[in-house]
Amino acid sequence: MGMIIDGKAISQAVKDEVRAEVAELETKFGRKPCLCVIIVGENPASQVYVRNKVKAAEYTGMGSRLIALPAEVSEEELLAQIAALNEDAGVDGILVQLPLPKHIDEEKVIDAISPAKDVDGFHASNVAGLWLGKDCIVPCTPAGIMRLIDSTGVDLCGKTAVVVGRSNIVGKPVAKLLLDRNATMTIAHSRTADLGAVTRQADVLVVAVGKAGLVTGDMVKPGAVVIDVGMNRDSAGRLCGDVDFTSCADVAGWITPVPGGVGPMTIAMLMKNTIRCYLQRIQ
Ligand code: GUN
Repeated sequence: MGMIIDGKAISQAVKDEVRAEVAELETKFGRKPCLCVIIVGENPASQVYVRNKVKAAEYTGMGSRLIALPAEVSEEELLAQIAALNEDAGVDGILVQLPLPKHIDEEKVIDAISPAKDVDGFHASNVAGLWLGKDCIVPCTPAGIMRLIDSTGVDLCGKTAVVVGRSNIVGKPVAKLLLDRNATMTIAHSRTADLGAVTRQADVLVVAVGKAGLVTGDMVKPGAVVIDVGMNRDSAGRLCGDVDFTSCADVAGWITPVPGGVGPMTIAMLMKNTIRCYLQRIQ
């Protein structure tokens, strides 16, 4: 059986690192970093994520603000709130939880956030920076995935890496980060003809599709590092990933569980990104 990558423990270590940094920064600059999280509507999953983000910020000792807007809020009003936060010298990071209600243009909202406060790394200028190889804010989940892979000690140089999923939030950016480490990259997706034939080549397999049990043990290369980004609910309402853990754990060298794998890392890296924005703004 493969080794389990303990995202909970690794994220705790990152949050403790941030906690020590926050204390130092407050002493040095006389002000704590501050993260502002905006949620629109009452999507239950989003409410849990947002609560956990604010809780993590509180744990690290940084300041946090939560702005909860009703589902009916107009795009104009949301953009006005963001404009005010962009101007607010006391706010270092702005995060608008996705997805947004259908009447609001997500792209417009993301691009309204000042790139300097874009702790998600979703703004077009940060995305461009990532793809051009500039030192810029990296999206939280991909950054967390790289930390998890690094915890295994596997050297990515020259390895075959397969990412299943091509979202702007996970698939595309994590593919670029793996490429930056000199892995040979393939992005597979819902239209990939023979998914198993592709995933079986992977020394490192990242699955971010949102389909429970999509990847089974017969689709995994023996000894591979398997990272499961899925957050699905099974018929009993339990959280489960895109990877069938039981069959894949038998074949993989390392594997992340759900829950307790990638999820907590996203939040820990958000804390790191907030510090980064703070430092860029204060210096
Ligand atoms: N919804 C799902 N993942 C994310 C994320 O990383 N950031 C934001 N803002 N919304 C999300």
